[in-house]
Amino acid sequence: MQNAELIKSLTGHSGCGLNLYKKDDKFFLRKDSGDCSYNRRLKKQYIKQNKFLLNGIKTPTIYNHGHENGLFYFDMEFLNGITLAEYMSNIKIKEINSLISLLFKSLPVESSKILPDTDAIFKKKIRQIKTKLRPSDSQALIAVEMLENFDFSKVPFSYCCGDLTLENIMLDDNKQIYLIDFLDSFYNSWMIDVAKLLQDLELHWSYRNQEIDFNLSMRLAVAKEALLENIAEYENAKENICAIYHILLLNILRIIPYAQDDKTHLFLKNALNKIIQTIKQTEKN
Ligand SMILES: Nc1ncnc2c1ncn2[C@@H]1O[C@H](COP(=O)(O)OP(=O)(O)OP(=O)(O)O)[C@@H](O)[C@H]1O
Ligand SMILES: [Mg+2]
Repeated sequence: MQNAELIKSLTGHSGCGLNLYKKDDKFFLRKDSGDCSYNRRLKKQYIKQNKFLLNGIKTPTIYNHGHENGLFYFDMEFLNGITLAEYMSNIKIKEINSLISLLFKSLPVESSKILPDTDAIFKKKIRQIKTKLRPSDSQALIAVEMLENFDFSKVPFSYCCGDLTLENIMLDDNKQIYLIDFLDSFYNSWMIDVAKLLQDLELHWSYRNQEIDFNLSMRLAVAKEALLENIAEYENAKENICAIYHILLLNILRIIPYAQDDKTHLFLKNALNKIIQTIKQTEKN
């Protein structure tokens, strides 16, 4: 890249390169695939970020994209902000409801549509996941059975970010919400995004490698309740919440084959237990 000065390298978990550059007094962040096998995925991420369309929420503006040394890249606005994962530690309790409502109300719940093949798409995904699980993992197989028996046909189709974790939500100095790091999903639904949010608010996935103190866990619990209250304002709340927890169960099963350390294995075992119990309870009520 001509005349651009490398200021700082950031890190994510995906193996992508994230480098902050300065050119002609302007900053930009370049995200590259890190490995050409990731080119296709990053290109899809670029496309999704480029056609981002949620109300009241922004995404970093993309300035440029292309290939360099065989790697796909895109250049975007560098945000002067922090992730919601970090912000949650110090957020004012009374600010939580409005922030979660703003986030939820931006999702295209009302314009989402029920499509005919949805259950088949989910069942195909569940079959794929099952082949990757160990037959001796009885708890995971119980979860698979729950998913096989669940009817996903009411999961509506809509725009979806695909990886709405607290680490992929940023706030700038003006508390403007930005979403980053979009993911191509096997199915697009606002429920997929809400399930990812619950993965952090209820299971603390993004915090799995750190100690969570009382202050943070209390704030996450308040945020979880706020999210569920928002869902409860719509029709079919009970069915929707039940579907979202099944999607969360599916998310956990998808991670299991990739877990490499004891800490992650234990996290996933506890997460499975918790979500299985929550689903049983939701179905009973
Ligand atoms: N446009 C941006 N401006 C400022 N910081 C950013 C921006 N994009 C990413 N970051 C920071 O870099 C971190 C990693 O970015 P990103 O999520 O895009 O990377 P990734 O490797 O795909 O991540 P992961 O797989 O860990 O989710 C973010 O959590 C955020 O802290
Ligand atoms: Mg990320």
